[in-house]
Amino acid sequence: MVNIEIPPYWEQLNLEGLSGLLMVIGAPDTGKSTFARYLYTRLCALHERVAFIDGDIGQASLGPPTTMTLALRQGGETGFPPGGPRVRVFVGANSPRGHMLPTLIGVYKLARRAQELGATATVLDTTGLVAPEQGGPALKLAKVDLLEPSVVFAIQRGSELEPILGPLRRSARTRVVELPAASAVRPRDMLARRAHRARLFARYFANAYPLEISWARLAVFPAPCFSRYQLVAMEDRRGFALALGIVLEVDMARKTVLLLTPAHSLSEVDALRVGDVWVNPETGEDSRAGNESDRHPLGAGRLIE
Ligand SMILES: Nc1ncnc2c1ncn2[C@@H]1O[C@H](COP(=O)(O)OP(=O)(O)OP(=O)(O)O)[C@@H](O)[C@H]1O
Ligand SMILES: [Mg+2]
Repeated sequence: MVNIEIPPYWEQLNLEGLSGLLMVIGAPDTGKSTFARYLYTRLCALHERVAFIDGDIGQASLGPPTTMTLALRQGGETGFPPGGPRVRVFVGANSPRGHMLPTLIGVYKLARRAQELGATATVLDTTGLVAPEQGGPALKLAKVDLLEPSVVFAIQRGSELEPILGPLRRSARTRVVELPAASAVRPRDMLARRAHRARLFARYFANAYPLEISWARLAVFPAPCFSRYQLVAMEDRRGFALALGIVLEVDMARKTVLLLTPAHSLSEVDALRVGDVWVNPETGEDSRAGNESDRHPLGAGRLIE
């Protein structure tokens, strides 16, 4: 980890005996991801099989935005990121708002996969969506109910987590460890967040090539409605994302879609999942943020089989 300030109250955390899922929550810019990485490296000294789930679909750390990524520790390595196997799910949005079910299902699939792969401790980093008017507490409490974390590390600046922590502190279903936000946190505004997402997409698609896919043979979730620059995932039969693609062209008559993707082979592809995000393949920018006309230049609006 590069130049992070480790507050004494991090060092004083007693992690002996902790196992299972360790969930980190907090509002935006509270240092969740930095703490989650620190927690992961501390756990590497205590467990052989440690996993990290990047559950932030907006400011992702282990994959492109719109996805969540599970990474497992390889051998005796001690640093972050984990060098072992990676498993990914596609949510298809930059925020859980309006996509709560795919977010919840996705994180559950990754937590279950971590267990299947033998992880005895898994750190889960989450999005900063905690505002009650946006459904933040409902989502966080649903995650606690479903994932049964042994500990929730709650990083709070003021009282913004109270709607979540109020009930959790009184419940025996998990343990809450409360931490203040580290003073070294550098906040990022909307523009910086958008630029960060664009960089992550640009990096992901840096070695991508056009690949034609016939959807006549594949499931398409939720339906084969594609428009230019729309983000699509290729999924395996368990619903894990093999790769993402950006729609370049659609041929309704032949039922084919041309995707810009780093994937080379379609051998394990079971389904396509169409996202709610449009990405400019040249800049990696969310094309809704820039040119609105980018979204439907294929002229057909909703392109349906
Ligand atoms: N303990 C620390 N020491 C040094 N820098 C830190 C520390 N904590 C956070 N930062 C810096 O502050 C910025 C935001 O931190 P971080 O990404 O961990 O916050 P976050 O709560 O995960 O943000 P987001 O809401 O975007 O997910 C980063 O640039 C990070 O390097
Ligand atoms: Mg973060």
